[in-house]
Amino acid sequence: MNSNNFEKHKNLGGFPKGFLWGSATSSHQVEGGTRNDWSEWEKQNAERLAQEAEKKFNHLSNWTDIKAQAQNPANYISGRACDHYNRYEEDFDIAQSLGHNVHRFSIEWSRIEPEEGKWDEKEIEHYRKVIRALHERGMEPFVTLWHWCIPLWMRDKGGVTSKEFPRYFARYAERMAQELGNDVKFWMTLNEPTSVIINSFMLGVWPPQKKSVFFTLRAYKTLAQAHREAYYAIRAVQKNAQIGFGNILKFCEPMRKNFFDGLIARIADFWLNRYFLKLTGDTHDYYALQYYFHMRIAFPGKIKNENERLSDLGWELYPEGIYHLLKRPEYSKKPVYITENGLADARDAQREWFIKEHLRWVHKAMQEGVDVRGYFYWSLLDNFEWDKGFWPRFGLVEIDYKTLERKIRPSAHEYAKIIKSNSLES
Ligand code: FCB
Repeated sequence: MNSNNFEKHKNLGGFPKGFLWGSATSSHQVEGGTRNDWSEWEKQNAERLAQEAEKKFNHLSNWTDIKAQAQNPANYISGRACDHYNRYEEDFDIAQSLGHNVHRFSIEWSRIEPEEGKWDEKEIEHYRKVIRALHERGMEPFVTLWHWCIPLWMRDKGGVTSKEFPRYFARYAERMAQELGNDVKFWMTLNEPTSVIINSFMLGVWPPQKKSVFFTLRAYKTLAQAHREAYYAIRAVQKNAQIGFGNILKFCEPMRKNFFDGLIARIADFWLNRYFLKLTGDTHDYYALQYYFHMRIAFPGKIKNENERLSDLGWELYPEGIYHLLKRPEYSKKPVYITENGLADARDAQREWFIKEHLRWVHKAMQEGVDVRGYFYWSLLDNFEWDKGFWPRFGLVEIDYKTLERKIRPSAHEYAKIIKSNSLES
């Protein structure tokens, strides 16, 4: 069924009262001035990434627009990013003016515990202020504890594949719950562990670039254990906390209706979507779904999407996929939050369409019984998109990286209308 057919099925009532509307960011991508495993890796790899850009991206239709930036090593250094560390109040003012009633952000572990066992009170106080600034603006803080970056001392102990990782991570989680728990209800332990497992260990393209089956399997185990231990650590401090982890699900379907395509789609679905969840057992108070990718798979593993619409990164835009993912049986058991969904779109040509179409499919799933309680667009601001650097523009708000001026994109106002009427029919 394509999205036009959805018209036939729609019944565009409103969203439930109290639905959480907002957007998400992560510390390393917006704050600026972070010092962690990623910032160090960026310095060592910026030249190489700039040299590889042409080969990786010259197939994109916007290649001429991004070429100069993508071939400039400076693009690959997160540096001051959006300076959100100093400008969070201004940024939250914008989110508030757009009607957001929730904001998801991450705490930067390397700031909090820059050396093993040494807690930086000043940085804890910073996040206390961030949380207070959200409450003052009527926004619920949704706090991520690990959005991929780790302190350098943890990196030197072997990073996320170290057997010690779960213990150290849970200790940090416990500390955050003690320090901030009075003002935070929603905790997300890990953001998209499978993205790191795949990119760092299966493909070997993200830090620490350890491409190996052994490390891949090890990372599934250590990260799942880290989530579980952090879950119990937070729970012990805060009885009423809502705790989960941000799961990226890729909508995998067989390209043709034959046995082999079906088999390969099921195998992909298992490794990408099911295995990690299985390892975490019942340590979820809610499910956090993050949706970007559709994979129509043909045996022995080729992805053949229809690609009717693409983002600036060449990722297929396939709103219907979110519906099929929400309809998985596990999602009818607990509240669900869409904690990320977004696209790179520098010209803001597709963002309004993208948000509305995804919300239509989310709404349909809700009408069919899925208890979705929030939608967080990725991202509030343009930001540092990991190994791609600054050229992909995901923001509701555009950043001029020279002046750091913020400019609200038209699509953000369209999203604000939906929020205001709490409905797709404004
Ligand atoms: C997600 C990440 C987020 C951002 C978006 C585009 O996978 O969680 O940090 O990079 O993709």
